[in-house]
Amino acid sequence: MRHSILLIISGSIAAYKSLDLIRRLQEHDIAVRCILTKGGAQFITPLSVASLSNNPVYEELFSLKDEAEMGHIRLSREADLVVVAPASADLIAKMANGQTDDLASATLLAANKKILVAPAMNTQMWQHPATQRNLSHIREDGAIIIEPGAGLLACGETGSGRMAEVETILAAISKHLYTGALHGTKALVTSGPTYEAIDPVRFIGNHSSGKQGHAIAAALARHGANVTLISGPTALPDPKGVTVKHITSAEEMLAACEAALPCDIAVCAAAVADWKVSEPTARKLKKAKDGEAPELRLIENPDILAHIAQHPKDRPNLVIGFAAETENVLENAAAKLKRKACDWIVANDVSEGKAFNATENSVTLVTAKSQQNWPLQSKEAIAEQLVQNIITHRSAK
Ligand code: C5P
Repeated sequence: MRHSILLIISGSIAAYKSLDLIRRLQEHDIAVRCILTKGGAQFITPLSVASLSNNPVYEELFSLKDEAEMGHIRLSREADLVVVAPASADLIAKMANGQTDDLASATLLAANKKILVAPAMNTQMWQHPATQRNLSHIREDGAIIIEPGAGLLACGETGSGRMAEVETILAAISKHLYTGALHGTKALVTSGPTYEAIDPVRFIGNHSSGKQGHAIAAALARHGANVTLISGPTALPDPKGVTVKHITSAEEMLAACEAALPCDIAVCAAAVADWKVSEPTARKLKKAKDGEAPELRLIENPDILAHIAQHPKDRPNLVIGFAAETENVLENAAAKLKRKACDWIVANDVSEGKAFNATENSVTLVTAKSQQNWPLQSKEAIAEQLVQNIITHRSAK
């Protein structure tokens, strides 16, 4: 089920950050509908909000268009969560007093969902007893305040009142949106490339960025799983709320996976090198004077996915692999499913540089019984869909 947020954007220079928030929510496959107050519309335009959210923007309480559909009631009914970001001193005051002279304040009074409030204002306004009084009133009424940070404000003064960063708002939204369906489960995710040493300075590697595996680890954790991410060398930060083991080679990845077993769910998204150099040299290889290039003898690496899927003692209940193919994508994925004895394969087409290092991907989820094609979307959205499928699968058992 796709989650949905009602985002109320009020009058503050921080409104520009809300555009980024909308984009990030979309990346996480969360639908966003927006109310833009008159003040908010002084800073960002309805057109940019509508374009980014892929939805109409709601602005007027007494609008024939918006209120023919009873917008101030319906908007919160159709959302899972209401987020006010930025929340101006004025809108917080209206909330505290139950005033309803515009669409935003009327919707907030009529809301039947949890309300998250990210204040943004000048330090004096933030510290004013009236604002602090209003904040404690709305807190008592059940609103969750996402505390502003301190720093240089748009007005040139320095102090507290700067709207929380988008990442912090996203984390607060995640906490309230996801119900912890995977609470009590243990998951293992492999991600990124492996590097196989040739000598102390050279290696055999590949173009995997780790974006998809990291997004899956983050999504599993968001839904309450206890996640160990075993990551090859990537440029990505460690996802929040996940235990990360950094490794370099396939052998190290295998050892780290063994150490993370037993677990309930294993997702092998890493692009493990198929071969390693049979005898990497302890010293750097030198160029030969006669120009002859060294010969490297390659031997096969362990197949980590197959090892986990066929584990004699600790096979996870659900083992998911990836198949990056350049041709006959679905046939090869179905064959791989059988050969490796995993439960699901996420198949993607990597011909012409697709998928590797990209932020978006289009995949097919192949199981023994079905194939689901997911259109081009962000790797975060694919991760969320995969986790939704895992949750459905576990609840059907
Ligand atoms: O055989 P192929 O490399 O196409 O299989 C891809 C799947 O197998 C991915 O899930 C990848 O993480 C996993 N794999 C692995 N160990 C290997 C090779 C692939 O876990 N040595």
